Amino acid sequence: MNSKEIRAQFLDFFETKKHKIVPSAPMVIKDDPTLMFTNAGMNQFKEFFLGNSVAKSPRMADTQKCLRVSGKHNDLEEVGKDTYHHTMFEMLGNWSFGDYFKKEAIEWAWELLTDKLQIDKDSLYVSVFEGSKDSDNLEMDNEAYELWSGIVPKDRIIMGNKKDNFWEMGDQGPCGPCSEIHVDIRPAEEKAETSGAFLVNQDHPLVVEIWNLVFMQYNRKADGALEPLPEKHVDTGMGFERLCMVLQGVQSNYDTDVFTPIIREIETITNADYGKNEEIDIAIRVIADHIRAVAFSIADGQLPSNTGAGYVIRRILRRAIRYGFTFLNTKEPFMYRLVNVLTETMGNAFPELKDQRQLIENVVKEEENSFLNTLEQGLVLLDNLVSKAKGKVVQGRKAFELYDTYGFPIDLTALILEEKGYTLDEKGFHEAMKEQKDRSRSASEIAKEDWMVLSDDSEQEFVGYDLLETNVKLVKYRKVTSKKEGEQYQMVFNLTPFYPEGGGQVGDKGYLEAPNGDVVYILDTKKENNEIVHFAKNLPKSTSDTFKAVVDKKQRQRTAANHTATHLLHQALREVLGNHVEQKGSAVHSKYLRFDFSHFSKMTVEELREVENFVNARIEGQLPLDENRSVPMEEALKGGAMALFGEEYGETVRTIRFGQSMELCGGAHVKITSDIWHFKIKSEGAVAAGIRRIEAITYDAVKDFYFHNNRSLFEIKDLLNNAQNPVNAVKALQDENAKLKKEVEQLLKDKAKNLKGDLLAELKEVNGIQFLAKKVDLDAAGIKDLSFEMGNNKNNLFLLFGTEQNGKALLSCYISKELVAEKNLNAGTIVRELGKCIQGGGGGQPFFATAGGKNPAGIEEALSKAEEYLN
Ligand code: ALA
Repeated sequence: MNSKEIRAQFLDFFETKKHKIVPSAPMVIKDDPTLMFTNAGMNQFKEFFLGNSVAKSPRMADTQKCLRVSGKHNDLEEVGKDTYHHTMFEMLGNWSFGDYFKKEAIEWAWELLTDKLQIDKDSLYVSVFEGSKDSDNLEMDNEAYELWSGIVPKDRIIMGNKKDNFWEMGDQGPCGPCSEIHVDIRPAEEKAETSGAFLVNQDHPLVVEIWNLVFMQYNRKADGALEPLPEKHVDTGMGFERLCMVLQGVQSNYDTDVFTPIIREIETITNADYGKNEEIDIAIRVIADHIRAVAFSIADGQLPSNTGAGYVIRRILRRAIRYGFTFLNTKEPFMYRLVNVLTETMGNAFPELKDQRQLIENVVKEEENSFLNTLEQGLVLLDNLVSKAKGKVVQGRKAFELYDTYGFPIDLTALILEEKGYTLDEKGFHEAMKEQKDRSRSASEIAKEDWMVLSDDSEQEFVGYDLLETNVKLVKYRKVTSKKEGEQYQMVFNLTPFYPEGGGQVGDKGYLEAPNGDVVYILDTKKENNEIVHFAKNLPKSTSDTFKAVVDKKQRQRTAANHTATHLLHQALREVLGNHVEQKGSAVHSKYLRFDFSHFSKMTVEELREVENFVNARIEGQLPLDENRSVPMEEALKGGAMALFGEEYGETVRTIRFGQSMELCGGAHVKITSDIWHFKIKSEGAVAAGIRRIEAITYDAVKDFYFHNNRSLFEIKDLLNNAQNPVNAVKALQDENAKLKKEVEQLLKDKAKNLKGDLLAELKEVNGIQFLAKKVDLDAAGIKDLSFEMGNNKNNLFLLFGTEQNGKALLSCYISKELVAEKNLNAGTIVRELGKCIQGGGGGQPFFATAGGKNPAGIEEALSKAEEYLN
């Protein structure tokens, strides 16, 4: 059976058992702060188990793309070294949501494996939870034991501890005892020697777990306590690649048809042979495995980057590149060339691979290129470090330099050192990292005085969503001196309408007005430890007054317009370019907005226009602000709010919705999109591999932009004698100009021809040499052409031309080659000598040389000296 058939058999079987077959959830998780990647088939059903929502069908089955590279389930270090762990793998699963329980789960699993798929019963072992005596104090799973006893001989039932037989999704969430099914595929002789029962869960490559049946009955709470679930559920997971290994009669997942096409392709590209040398085999397995993880992540919209899930993906890719580089001698990008065969093998089951093939190839290639540059340099430096290491430990500080200067990932350094038999002093690395952070902080700040506290009113309130002006009292202040700003005062008020810098949006400016009319300008507003701090050049004279705090309304309006436009732009980019677009950075100023996002290629003019039109349509659509200041995070996400990757959010969040655009956001926004007036993209460009940046303007800035453009247009029209259609008028001018240019060129050619004739007639003989020294009105190139042309017509020539161009003097001397040889003349020496007359110097070849000088008045002298010289 090939892998496609095996997958189908599994799903068909559960369909006959009344399961609804559902698609795989994405592998990259966007809306669960506790999990970056899907690590088990049940992730997408978590809410059903917890009873928070009800499944449409009480029975489901699927094959789920999983990635186990971080958090509780992390197999990365095993991958490649053994033959049955993966980063990305498929998990076949069947689920009961409050429907069937242990009996059916166990019986059906057995029926599928032994009856339908015909796996030898004697090669199977099952395990049952033995209970735990720790704080959870769990009983043995007698029910499962009894059920299995009716199916398999007792010596094939293995009692398992909590580590192996109590499954938990993570530190929190649904969990329960489980029964695993293990398969022993060793040769018969070995089986006769040692019973497989002793090898279950002993990391034997040929006695492996293939299926885990979890009986969900508890919820692990944040405080560690177990709470029984309202209903009992079944969650199973079978390793698809391992099942293929068993059914295809091979001894490694990598020898199944899931991997062999990829491995053949690696062999072709690298000229390496799989199966001859363990080091090379590990490298090939790492690459074959990692390309799947990377390709599927990119297909799910997660591009490699420097943070969060993107960084995990980048590291996986770099790990594979490094294995190729070291063991397969790949010095050029090659991983991207595997995407094609991967798409051919898996594209039918996972069409997203087909859809995104081009993007995946581009991203992988770009990443490979940039990392290979770093790698070569880094490896040399690392070798250096090792040779200088005292003992077997490499200093963390040195590794930090490698990281800091060359972007060499620290886990890669650790891995390479491990292979060389060295270890990395990680503590030293983290110290160096911290010191650097401290250094950059102190470079910008010098001195802060202690806070002068005026009142203990600690409940500070932000009222700036609703008010731009209100009465405030000063709670505390202090003086701060920094290199950049000089002396400043920082003030905290009991309440404030000033928005503190955050979420990419600049802080508000404005002023404080004292009762006597004195004004203190607020230059910036920032947050510090949850307090809103206002910056000013000086303090109010009487600090105990009640002040009127007034936000610069115009600046705030402009900023709000840019912030709302940023949300619409985000929505537009996902709509026009695709859902791989993710916000990577944002700066919302009053004069412009800047938005960084993941996308591989330069946007086309059409795409930019489409994005602009999309945003402007929503501005014209007059969408009102729909704001909710306090929604539970879960609810907001369920409602479709876009959360930023790697951003931390509180339990309740503020949602901002304009039409279909909904984001979690604390910033300032317009009340209705028409307040933005208009949106205009000013530039689009790259900031890093796979990250683009758009700068755009709205509102007043657009008015200014069009105003200036319009004024320029009027000036242009004016210059064109009030042409009604300036474009046509400019085109006509261009045409005319081209025509004139041609005419001038022809005239110059004619002139040179005439000149040549005239000058040839002027030649006179001096000592058997055809001589001419003359001032002409040509530039350097013209003189050169003229000299060589004359040389073509006459032998024994000696020419010296002088010319004056832009107040400077130029001499050029041409001597026929036969004269150079016979009379031992050298144009270079001659112009150097004559150059003195024009206060300059020069040189060149014996037959042609030039000299430039700053004294045109000396040209005549030089010309007459030439004849003297020949005489
Ligand atoms: N959720 C179970 C596992 O991942 C089936 O092993």
